[in-house]
Amino acid sequence: MPYLSPALNVMTSAARKAGRKLIRDFGEVENLQISLKGPADFVSVADKRTERILIEELQRARPGYPILSEEAGLLDGPDKSHRFIIDPLDGTTNFLHGIPHFAISIALEREGQLVSGVIYNPISDDLFIAERHHGAYLNDTRLRVAARKQLNTCLSATGIPFLGRGTPDDQERFLTELRAVIEATPGIRRFGSAALDLAWVAAGRYDAFWEHGLKPWDIAAGILMVREAQGVATDLNGGERMLESGDILVANEQLHPQLLKLLKSAGRQASSAAPAT
Ligand code: IPD
Ligand code: CA
Ligand code: CA
Repeated sequence: MPYLSPALNVMTSAARKAGRKLIRDFGEVENLQISLKGPADFVSVADKRTERILIEELQRARPGYPILSEEAGLLDGPDKSHRFIIDPLDGTTNFLHGIPHFAISIALEREGQLVSGVIYNPISDDLFIAERHHGAYLNDTRLRVAARKQLNTCLSATGIPFLGRGTPDDQERFLTELRAVIEATPGIRRFGSAALDLAWVAAGRYDAFWEHGLKPWDIAAGILMVREAQGVATDLNGGERMLESGDILVANEQLHPQLLKLLKSAGRQASSAAPAT
């Protein structure tokens, strides 16, 4: 059975409560697909409503903790040794298009260290949890990253830059990375939820995941999930600045250095090909 600290308990019930509302809203989005205006406004209201439920639940149980949340920004609190980091809806584009692959992500930091994480897909009822030093679980099953060691057996997930995300140089770098990984591995997936991508690496479904330009709420819970499943999580320089830089690579101990080398060399290739400014 997973160990649930009191804080993880609070986070899990907040995610389940908000998830119930998200399921009802998702049903409504499916009805709105055929309307001329489309469901975009409705989704942004659903996103904010989910956030409100999460914030209310977390603040009720831990009134002093600051909360960093995607839509609300930083809600300050007197307890400076803790911070919740929330993404109420990760995979918004999927939600908007009626694709049942999205999640609520909640992390807790203590003294600047990630200590608890929850990633919850309310549609599949997959609840991923992690507690520092106590492992990561999917529902009641302990998670461990996959054991594949060779790039030629490695299935990766990634995030593709999109309208409004990244400069033309960032897009070029991504295309160069993509080519390098295409040439070295049997498959790449882009399912549209960074939080679930990380949880799925922890669960051994994907062997690796990399993306640039993410926000702390996309990855905080997932970083802990991967680490507690014995995986390695770094930024794309091999350092620890994932939350600051928004760049991340996760994999098992054997694949991580191989992918890091490949992606770094692709990054160098893209910047040497870029026209001087
Ligand atoms: C997005 C998802 C997506 C990633 C984007 C994120 P959102 O979060 O995680 O997979 O590629 O970079 O912004 O907007 O759905 O919360
Ligand atoms: Ca997100
Ligand atoms: Ca979001």
